[in-house]
Amino acid sequence: MRLDKLLTVTATATRSEAARAVRAGAVLVNGVPAKSAAVHIDPERDAVEYCGRAVMYRTHHYIILNKPIGYVSATEDGKDPTVLELLPPKYTALGLFPCGRLDKNTLGLMLLTDDGDLAHRLLSPRRHVTKRYYFRVKFPLTEAECARFREGLVLEDGYETKPADIALSSDMTSGVITLIEGKYHQIKRMMLALHNQITHLERISFGPLSLPSELARGAWRELTQEEENALREAAK
Ligand code: URA
Repeated sequence: MRLDKLLTVTATATRSEAARAVRAGAVLVNGVPAKSAAVHIDPERDAVEYCGRAVMYRTHHYIILNKPIGYVSATEDGKDPTVLELLPPKYTALGLFPCGRLDKNTLGLMLLTDDGDLAHRLLSPRRHVTKRYYFRVKFPLTEAECARFREGLVLEDGYETKPADIALSSDMTSGVITLIEGKYHQIKRMMLALHNQITHLERISFGPLSLPSELARGAWRELTQEEENALREAAK
C-alpha cells in the first residue's frame, strides 16, 4: 500500500497534508524519514509515524459525536448541514455514515462509521439494542400514561410499538425513555398518542455507548478500543 494511502485510510491526514508532512521529514517508516508519499509499505509490518505519533492501520472507523440541533443525520442533504460536516476534511473520503438516525431537532449521541456490517447488526430489529433518551414534554405525564407507554402504544398509522421504558422525574414533565426499536419520529409519535408533545429530546446512550460528559455539543472523537469491543459484543 502507498504511504499516502495508509495516511488517508486511517484518517491521519488528507493526501495533501500527507505530501506536505513527507516533504517536511515528519513521516517516518521504521524510524527513517520517508523520501516520498508514494513509497510502498506493508501496513501490517512497517511501523509508520506521522508527526511523532504512531499510525495504527485500521480498516474501519467508529466515531462518537454529540449532535447539535439543526444538523441532519444523513451523508448529504440539499438544504441542511449534515452531521458529517462536523468532522475535519481527513474524514470525508472514508465513506462514513450515521448508524441510525436522529431528527434534525434531536440532540446527542450519534455513532458514525464506515463499517456497514456492524451498523447493520446494531440496527437490526432482532437484536433490540437499547437507546436511551432524555426528554421533556409540554404537559405533565400521569402514571397511567407511563403505564401505557411501557406496555406499547398504537401510533396514528396503526403501528403497535414494542414496550418502551419511561422513568419520570418528580416534575412529571421530564425523564428518560428507553427504546428497543427505532421507528421514524418514534418518541414524538408515542407522545402524540398520549396527546402530549416533546419539547426536548436528547439521546444519551446507544447500546453500551454513553454520551461522554466532556464531549461538547458538536464535538466528536474516535471510539476507544474498549468502546469498540463493547459495541461488537452488543451486535453479536
Ligand atoms: N424519537 C424521535 O421522535 N426522534 C428521534 O430523533 C429519536 C427518537
